[in-house]
Amino acid sequence: MSLLEAISLGKEFKRRGQRSLAPLAAVDDVNLAVKPGDFITITGKSGSGKTTLLTLLAGLASPTSGRVLFRGRNLRELPDRELSRLRNREISFIPQGMGLLGNLTVRDNVRAPQLFAGKDGADSSRADFLLEAVGLSELAQEYPPSLSGGEMRRVAIARALFNQPALLIADEPTSDLDPANTRLVMELLRKANQQDTTVLMVTHEQEIALYGSVRLTMESGKLA
Ligand SMILES: Nc1ncnc2c1ncn2[C@@H]1O[C@H](COP(=O)(O)OP(=O)(O)OP(=O)(O)O)[C@@H](O)[C@H]1O
Ligand SMILES: [Mg+2]
Repeated sequence: MSLLEAISLGKEFKRRGQRSLAPLAAVDDVNLAVKPGDFITITGKSGSGKTTLLTLLAGLASPTSGRVLFRGRNLRELPDRELSRLRNREISFIPQGMGLLGNLTVRDNVRAPQLFAGKDGADSSRADFLLEAVGLSELAQEYPPSLSGGEMRRVAIARALFNQPALLIADEPTSDLDPANTRLVMELLRKANQQDTTVLMVTHEQEIALYGSVRLTMESGKLA
C-alpha cells in the first residue's frame, strides 16, 4: 500500500480584485503515490504550486477537489485528535518559513514534539544528538531570533527528525544554506531515508534534486 496518496488533488485560489477572471488552479488534478522508503524530489519554477501541494499533502490545508490518503485514510476525515497525533508522531513538515518558536531555546525547539506531547521532563539526549548532527551543539541554549537563517534552517530540520517520522515533507530545506551545510543536511536526510523515513522535498536546485530516487517536476499546478 502507498504511504501517501494524492488522488485528483486540486486547490484553487480566488484572485483578489480580479473577480472576472477564473480562479487560479495552484494545484491542478495531481495524482501521486508515495511508497514507503521513497525519496522524492520536486522541482519547478516559482509560483508553480509546490508549496501549495506540500501543505495539502501534509494535511495543513484543505483541497478544493480530490483527496489525500495517508496509509489509506483520508486526512480531512480524521478526527482532530488523530490528525494531531499523526502530525506529532508520523508526518514531519518543514515549512518554507521554518516555523521556529522564538520564546523556546534551540534545544527546546528541537524537542518541541516532546513538549507538545506533555513530556517536558523527558531527557533531551535525542535533541542534543540531533543538534550535534547538524553542527549546532554550541547554540543549544540560544533563542532562534539570534540565529542566522541557515542555523534556523538546521534547527528546523533537527526538530523534524526528532520523532523519526514515517514521512518527512520539506519545502526547500536547503534554500539558505552554504554548500557545506547543504551537503550536511542532504546527507542527514539521506540517512533518515535509509532508516525508514520516507522523504518528499521541494527544491529549486537541480543538483539537490539528484538526491531523489523519484524526481518530479511541477509546472502550472501539474505534476509530471
Ligand atoms: N493563500 C493564497 N491565496 C491566493 N493565491 C495563492 C495563495 N497561496 C499561493 N497562491 C498562489 O498560488 C500559486 C502557487 O503558489 P506556491 O506558493 O504554491 O508556489 P511555489 O511553487 O511554492 O513557489 P516558490 O518556488 O516561489 O516558493 C502562486 O501563483 C501564488 O500566488
Ligand atoms: Mg514555495
